[in-house]
Amino acid sequence: MKACNQITEKLPGLNGGFTSDNVAGASVEVLKAIVSCSTGAAQPYGADEHTVNVEKRLAEIFECDLSVFLVPTGSAANGLSLAALNPPWGSILCHADSHINNDECGAPEFFSAGAKLVAVSGDNAKLNLQALRVAALHKVGDVHSVQPTSVSITQATETGSVYTLQEIQNISQVCRETDLKLHMDGARFANALVSLNCTPAEMTWKAGVDVLSFGATKNGVLAAEAVVLFDQSYAGELAFRRKRGGHLFSKMRILSAQIEAYLANDLWIKNARHANAMATRLSQGLSVINEIELFGVVEANIIFCRFPKHVIEGLLAQGFRFYHDRWGPGVVRLVTSFATEKEEVDAFIQSSRQLCQ
Ligand SMILES: Cc1ncc(COP(=O)(O)O)c(C=O)c1O
Repeated sequence: MKACNQITEKLPGLNGGFTSDNVAGASVEVLKAIVSCSTGAAQPYGADEHTVNVEKRLAEIFECDLSVFLVPTGSAANGLSLAALNPPWGSILCHADSHINNDECGAPEFFSAGAKLVAVSGDNAKLNLQALRVAALHKVGDVHSVQPTSVSITQATETGSVYTLQEIQNISQVCRETDLKLHMDGARFANALVSLNCTPAEMTWKAGVDVLSFGATKNGVLAAEAVVLFDQSYAGELAFRRKRGGHLFSKMRILSAQIEAYLANDLWIKNARHANAMATRLSQGLSVINEIELFGVVEANIIFCRFPKHVIEGLLAQGFRFYHDRWGPGVVRLVTSFATEKEEVDAFIQSSRQLCQ
């Protein structure tokens, strides 16, 4: 991990890269796996041993039969998953603040040939159950309106909150009652998992999730994500959709080897624990500074807070990097990762304290 951190530290102006968890590079284990799988020949398009191993390993981890489709980005994982779950006249009920609604440039609509995203409200970027029920029944059977066909939740959410198992079960209950499929955007799946301290099965299919976008890029992988189908009836369709969408890698082993290394020896769990611990350390340090207002409880690796303007300017001038003023005046988002070091966190806290004096 050290070697990657050194690469990260050499980026000009990156002093405390809290912009996102993808400012980090990749875990050394993942980089080594890419190098070692790159020599010699392997069957193309996913017929190689690494891809077979990934499917086996994910089946063990999730304790069930499943189908896996590797893709290079989270947007592709979401877009292809949602295309499989929704006809063009369908609608995808999702939180107003969700990544699919705000940050994928219409990819779910594009991949699904027009299924509509319907934004549902709720505190902390989590779907409100009552609002979801209303949306799930809206104009059902009316030929003039899109028909609700799925729900998509993000775990951990875009604000860093985490759905409890009960909350996921409640949402899936609404899905069952209204005949909707349930998709989980797990770009930060591991961060949520270690936060809840539950099993992958409990957080997904046992709670009623049909399809998961299993994220890895934000947590130590260079570029690989997995669409995991618990409802395997979509497998045939997804294979064609992935190819048609330009995401079937001929040298699939390059993606598979990354996920293999990510899952080996619990690297994914260790990385997520570290990222979450760094967020907790950061929030604890900031919480004692009067001028800084922290929003909500830190449950994963994202912190939202409000800083005085001059403190934001001072931190930026010192080279710290983070998103600010996108969600309101003075609102700062800080994201930690597997590569965040205690020293970076402590330096950020110390500078914030000094600038607030
Ligand atoms: C919640 C969520 N979903 C999905 C993604 C995947 O995005 P990308 O296509 O950049 O890998 C992200 C990345 O920011 C995210 O935050």
